Amino acid sequence: MFEGGTYAAKKCCQLLHQYIGNSSNLAILDLGCGTGDQGRILREMGVKGFFYGIDMSPGMLESAKSKGLYKELKQSILPEIPYADNTFDIVISAGTLCSPGNAPSESLPEIIRVTKSAGLLCFSYRQHWFENQESGWKKIHEEMLEAGLMKQLCCEVDNYIPTQNISGLYFVCHKC
Ligand SMILES: C[S@@+](CC[C@H](N)C(=O)[O-])C[C@H]1O[C@@H](n2cnc3c(N)ncnc32)[C@H](O)[C@@H]1O
Repeated sequence: MFEGGTYAAKKCCQLLHQYIGNSSNLAILDLGCGTGDQGRILREMGVKGFFYGIDMSPGMLESAKSKGLYKELKQSILPEIPYADNTFDIVISAGTLCSPGNAPSESLPEIIRVTKSAGLLCFSYRQHWFENQESGWKKIHEEMLEAGLMKQLCCEVDNYIPTQNISGLYFVCHKC
């Protein structure tokens, strides 16, 4: 079970599953959905939500579409999230945020904006990039917590790309 997929994808899904169990009817946004492994793994875990995916790569979106699990897939470049405020019960993002050359730190307020009140955010960060001031991710993450816009339910340090000895931070937060 849960074969394939990146370490970060599997880890995010496992963490999120601890909080949502096999809830149904959840609107779940997958940011940087890639080939759609988050949708596949969460379904294999028994999560029966409606999956929405965003990625900047048309090729990735085609691959995610072929899995037949996503209700809607949109091409967009983060920080832009083309959905209305308070749309999603869950926003998950594995391997996309806080990674050099990927989504900028301005993505975090946008993620909070599209999440429903008391909805859950689950994401991975590359640890070294979080701690590098240049990325801006640590600053914005702490600002969102201090402003009471989200509350951190868990933070775990774990592998990110084990074969390259790169470690990650894994968060589950809820929108206040
Ligand atoms: C390392 S892959 C992770 C894919 C998938 N989430 C997983 O864990 O298997 C990162 C994905 O994020 C997408 N991506 C990177 N930067 C992005 C941005 N600024 N906006 C939207 N998608 C982005 C890439 O196209 C790629 O599909």
